[in-house]
Amino acid sequence: MSFKVVLVLLMILMTKGETCHPNDHRALIDFKNGIHYDSSFRLEKWKGQDCCKWEGILCDNITLRVTQLNLPGFLTMYDAPAQTTMDGLLSTSIALLTSLEVLDLGGLLELKGQIPPLIGNLTKLRKLFLSTNRFSGPVPDSIGKLYKLEEMYLNENSFSGSLPFSLGSLRSLRKLDLSSNKFSGSIPDSVVNLVNLEILSLQENFLTGHIPENIGNLHVLQNLDISNNFLTGRIPFSINKFNSISSIFLGNNQLEGEIPFPSSPGQMPSLVFVNLNDNNLTGTLPSFFGHLNSLQRLSLANNQLEGSLPSNLGDLKALAMLYLSGNRLSGKLPRSIGLLTQLEILNISDNMIEGPLPLEMSSLTNLQLLHLSFNHLNLSSIPTWLADLPSLTNLHLAGCGIQDEIPGYLENGARRFQEFDLSANHLIGSIPGWLGRFHYLYHLNLSVNSLSSKIPNTITNLGDLGVLDLHSNMLSGPVNLLFQMQSRFENGGLTFLDLSDNNFSNDIEQTDLGTQQRIEYLNLSHNFLNGKLPTTIGKLQSLQTLDLSYNQFTSILPESLANASILERLKLQKNQFTGRIPDGFLKLTKLKELNLSDNLLSGNIPFGEPLLNFPKSSYSGNKGLCGKPLATCTPHSQ
Ligand SMILES: *[C@@H]1O[C@H](CO)[C@@H](O)[C@H](O)[C@H]1NC(C)=O
Ligand SMILES: *[C@@H]1O[C@H](CO)[C@@H](O)[C@H](O)[C@H]1NC(C)=O
Ligand SMILES: *[C@@H]1O[C@H](CO)[C@@H](O)[C@H](O)[C@H]1NC(C)=O
Ligand SMILES: *[C@@H]1O[C@H](CO)[C@@H](O)[C@H](O)[C@H]1NC(C)=O
Ligand SMILES: *[C@@H]1O[C@H](CO)[C@@H](O)[C@H](O)[C@H]1NC(C)=O
Ligand SMILES: *[C@@H]1O[C@H](CO)[C@@H](O)[C@H](O)[C@H]1NC(C)=O
Ligand SMILES: *[C@@H]1O[C@H](CO)[C@@H](O)[C@H](O)[C@H]1NC(C)=O
Ligand SMILES: *[C@@H]1O[C@H](CO)[C@@H](O)[C@H](O)[C@H]1NC(C)=O
Ligand SMILES: *[C@@H]1O[C@H](CO)[C@@H](O)[C@H](O)[C@H]1NC(C)=O
Ligand SMILES: *[C@@H]1O[C@H](CO)[C@@H](O)[C@H](O)[C@H]1NC(C)=O
Repeated sequence: MSFKVVLVLLMILMTKGETCHPNDHRALIDFKNGIHYDSSFRLEKWKGQDCCKWEGILCDNITLRVTQLNLPGFLTMYDAPAQTTMDGLLSTSIALLTSLEVLDLGGLLELKGQIPPLIGNLTKLRKLFLSTNRFSGPVPDSIGKLYKLEEMYLNENSFSGSLPFSLGSLRSLRKLDLSSNKFSGSIPDSVVNLVNLEILSLQENFLTGHIPENIGNLHVLQNLDISNNFLTGRIPFSINKFNSISSIFLGNNQLEGEIPFPSSPGQMPSLVFVNLNDNNLTGTLPSFFGHLNSLQRLSLANNQLEGSLPSNLGDLKALAMLYLSGNRLSGKLPRSIGLLTQLEILNISDNMIEGPLPLEMSSLTNLQLLHLSFNHLNLSSIPTWLADLPSLTNLHLAGCGIQDEIPGYLENGARRFQEFDLSANHLIGSIPGWLGRFHYLYHLNLSVNSLSSKIPNTITNLGDLGVLDLHSNMLSGPVNLLFQMQSRFENGGLTFLDLSDNNFSNDIEQTDLGTQQRIEYLNLSHNFLNGKLPTTIGKLQSLQTLDLSYNQFTSILPESLANASILERLKLQKNQFTGRIPDGFLKLTKLKELNLSDNLLSGNIPFGEPLLNFPKSSYSGNKGLCGKPLATCTPHSQ
């Protein structure tokens, strides 16, 4: 550097060094004045004229114009990560910072206001981070002037209105996240011009209309998420070249080998994650999917897609997760599915897929979760190879037409299974004792079958069990075993227990229900349980639903039940409970449903909320209950 240059630089520093540009200074002071609470105390230190020295501000060292405003909510304070908050209104003066390249006000939680239309003046802006705040209003058209913008994160706010067509002018944009807002209207076709886009996140809005036809133009797109909107129409990935080629007439030739058409139409070769879940998309699955070589996760669940899975599904070499549940897909699973060697999760529940399952599936050695419930599989029996899949931990085969006894060969998988659902089939016979070897089992659903044994003693070995659903079988014997189970974890234990609609009998008087303190849902209704309700029921402090209706309980209602203070549903009808309704029930303030009808209760209904909110039919058919909502008590009725 020559002496002259150094001198000029020095002069610039000396003359302008003490003060930043007046527009910038004013913009920042206005910004500060808009914030009335700053838990990070960063703004408190914004004093004096030289705003370039303020925390969170960066200036160009020649022009001294502010280039960065960096005040993210999540930061490191005293070497530890901390979530801070700013409460207030974003000043529109922010548009005066015309040299700004980075604006980061993300995650401040309580920032309100709108994006000022003059944001279009910030033509040097490269990064705009406003996520996780309370911003509202539309994204102004002028956003289209920010032609240098590379990243825009507006997610988790209350922005609304339709997406401006001008978005399509942001040719430098690589990352766009507008998710979890209230945007409506359709996705502007202009987004297909954003050819540098790598991430497009529009999920959890109110978007309608179609997915833009030419979305395949987004050649470098890696992550596409438009889930949880109201989109209709087809999935347009298969348009242009590939589709037109596939419709070329080849005549009556005897072609051998592969047709030498471009094997990679290469529309979106970079796609890694695609999530179109929870929309109203129709039509068939594009066979084009077979050429997305990088695709790892494809989620199309809960739409109205129909037709069969493309036969070239196996070409998706990188696929690890495939979610297709809740559509109207039909036909058989293609044999090429066996080529998806990376597949870990396959969910096709709630479709109309037909059996049998292709034997090729037995080579899916990485498969961990397999959900095939409620299709038209009509399996009759569970394929033996299923139990030998070496990575399988979650198996859901509800409503698959499985008959006969639970087959012994499933024991092979026992040591791995965490979720096991054979509900709504035609199983008969007993719950096998080897079930006790399912050491990691968390979720067991054998409900809606015709199983007719007792609960095997070995069930007490299931130290991880959290969810047990055996309802609607013909199971018999005592139920107290389930309260002798020792959880392997301090905070473990059952949270959900449904034994309703069986033939269980015996009394539970001596049972210490308190061993299952985490239970939230307990349904023992429609059985033959009798005797007294143990006072230990009061130990179930997590209980939200208790249904003991349609049994033969004979005791008084224990006062201790009032300890289940978050109880929302209490159904005790059709038993022989006697005595009064305990006054303590007035403490069950969360109660939304109550039925004590058809018992032998008497005396006055304790007066007050929530008991007087329920209809008469909650109390009817007892021996002598009176008081609101039933008739007033008379000396006789008491
Ligand atoms: C100005 O900043 C740039 C980049 O931030 C740096 O490379 C350069 O050395 C700085 N110049 C002076 C004179 O400090
Ligand atoms: C901002 O843009 C408006 C309209 O385009 C213009 O009138 C105004 O002068 C601009 N302000 C600055 C500071 O550049
Ligand atoms: C989705 O489609 C179904 C059936 O066509 C229709 O009943 C429903 O209203 C649609 N939902 C939305 C959000 O468009
Ligand atoms: C699979 O699909 C079913 C039905 O839509 C759903 O209930 C379940 O949570 C899904 N499981 C996984 C792991 O996605
Ligand atoms: C289901 O499979 C069984 C045995 O293979 C067969 O008898 C029955 O007709 C099938 N049911 C349906 C609805 O296809
Ligand atoms: C068990 O299966 C039945 C029938 O398929 C279903 O209705 C129920 O919700 C399942 N239980 C749990 C806890 O998931
Ligand atoms: C308990 O189970 C019965 C029979 O399966 C069912 O009808 C009832 O709705 C369940 N109770 C609650 C509160 O879920
Ligand atoms: C259910 O239990 C009742 C009484 O305990 C008995 O009479 C009946 O035969 C049992 N039904 C079945 C299907 O086991
Ligand atoms: C119910 O709670 C009270 C005090 O909160 C306690 O003294 C009593 O032991 C509890 N009863 C049961 C059965 O847990
Ligand atoms: C309570 O249960 C009885 C059956 O014993 C039924 O007739 C009545 O409608 C139920 N009332 C409410 C509020 O659930």
